[in-house]
Amino acid sequence: EFSWKLKDHTSLPKGKTVAMVVLDGWGETQRDQYNCIHLAQTPAMDSLKKGAPDKWRLVKAHGTAVGLPTDDDMGNSEVGHNALGAGRTYAQGAKLVDLALESGKIYDGEGFKYIQESFDTGTLHLIGLLSDGGVHSRLDQLKLFLEGATEHGAKRIRVHVLTDGRDVLDGTSVGFVETLENFLAKLREKGIDARIASGGGRMFVTMDRYENDWNVVKRGWDAQVLGEAPHKFKNAVEAVTKLQELPDTNDQNLPPFVVVDGGGKAVGPIVDGDAVVTFNFRADRMVMAAKAFEYEEFDKFDRVRFPKIRYAGIIEYDGELKLPSHYLVSPPEIEKTSGEYLVHNGIHVFACSETVKFGHVTFFWNGNRSGYFNKEMEEYVEIPSDTGITFNERPKMKALEIAEKARDAILSRKFDHVRVNLPNGDMVGHTGDIKATIVACKAVDDAVKMILDAIEQVGGIYVVTADHGNAEDMVKRDKKGNPLIKDNGDINVLTSHTLHPNTYVQVPLAIGGPGLAPGVRFRKDLPDGGLANVAATVLNLHGFEGPRDYEPTLIEVVEN
Ligand code: 3PG
Ligand code: CO
Repeated sequence: EFSWKLKDHTSLPKGKTVAMVVLDGWGETQRDQYNCIHLAQTPAMDSLKKGAPDKWRLVKAHGTAVGLPTDDDMGNSEVGHNALGAGRTYAQGAKLVDLALESGKIYDGEGFKYIQESFDTGTLHLIGLLSDGGVHSRLDQLKLFLEGATEHGAKRIRVHVLTDGRDVLDGTSVGFVETLENFLAKLREKGIDARIASGGGRMFVTMDRYENDWNVVKRGWDAQVLGEAPHKFKNAVEAVTKLQELPDTNDQNLPPFVVVDGGGKAVGPIVDGDAVVTFNFRADRMVMAAKAFEYEEFDKFDRVRFPKIRYAGIIEYDGELKLPSHYLVSPPEIEKTSGEYLVHNGIHVFACSETVKFGHVTFFWNGNRSGYFNKEMEEYVEIPSDTGITFNERPKMKALEIAEKARDAILSRKFDHVRVNLPNGDMVGHTGDIKATIVACKAVDDAVKMILDAIEQVGGIYVVTADHGNAEDMVKRDKKGNPLIKDNGDINVLTSHTLHPNTYVQVPLAIGGPGLAPGVRFRKDLPDGGLANVAATVLNLHGFEGPRDYEPTLIEVVEN
């Protein structure tokens, strides 16, 4: 019954080159001194906006519109790109883990049974991001799981924390560590030997992505498994408090530390017979650590010791690699994505970004699958990101190089669909550096211009959108939207993605180019359209109807 063959669109032609441009972290909000997109020179994006309402509109990119638990959840790249690529929304990792914890089903599954085998004689280690950001993990889920695990037999527990400051305000990590310490103290009162064993900042320890820098994972391995780190403390609160005072140090890049006993011995290295659970539900920044814990053959760094453990992810991280082989919650089954439809319908696909966002336009876009659907039809190009810096030091990143690759792919006429992610607004926005973020936004606009020019030359079509907000608001605000100012007069810098209190975050969506058939315009009857509506829209622009189960297209064709 099912067929990959898409119906021809009733009026739109085939054969146009379509550029799909995703600006990472580029939302729409008031134009004030905290809006780096407004502060930057962005002539290309400004000119697209003039096409409103027929060729430019806003789409939802947060909360339930992208499969997150509530509308108070800000958007992020994972759910944003999943929705863009899949054309539908799915209950995402955050929600699925919530449900499994609430119902207790998490303890009935194969994954939990597998790690449970270690509880009698071994330690249960939990590794993950410690915050309530809700992008990669949530502290309330960790607490529920700790409680549940002890009720199901865990007697000795070690938590290895990664401090955030990126999905939540910088400086909040001490508070999260305190909360966790208090919680573990209560478990100890019940006779459970539960402690924090190690830690480090998420951007410096463990949570690298897309193989940008294996040293990050190695630092985590050394602290968590070997019990070795440059800094040793009696407890984690003291560690985070003291380490933050080092020059140029914040929650995101805190150096690794281990907690030691009176004799200076690490309290929780991972050893033979232990169980390990990585509790981040978002995949991109856990895949590398999962490989280190799971793969017998491994040459990315010297693990020194490869303990015989039972390892599980809280969720499956990569459906194609089947990684990890044990997990506690089944991931959303994102199938029949637009990328797979395209190759089945003769569309040649080119996708490109730099390393730090490369998987967004491939892995996330394709429903958390690494690799090609059909190598003959697709080419994915990764431009190596700079490593060992924070991106405010080089805010232009590789935007120009990405745009050049896209331009060349378009002009080569070998590809029908050219997809890129331009990371700057997000990656530099996350540093909280306003000056650098302005430079970042200008670099993105220059890149957009280069791609639009190429589309002009081949008579193609462009679609420009964003996955969520970031650079358009760099200050933490109160419920009324007023900036929160500290006692010393400084602003509370917002390093995270955005969620504007009144409108919630919405991102731009623009279409155009010489190949766009006359009479194509945005429909007026879908004011609440979100990122998931973009896939059917793009399939239309390739000359196909969207599949029946996709969210409806945002465009219509009117006679003129
Ligand atoms: C990160 O992983 O860098 C942040 O937590 C979220 O950013 P992203 O969703 O834009 O990747
Ligand atoms: Co981001």
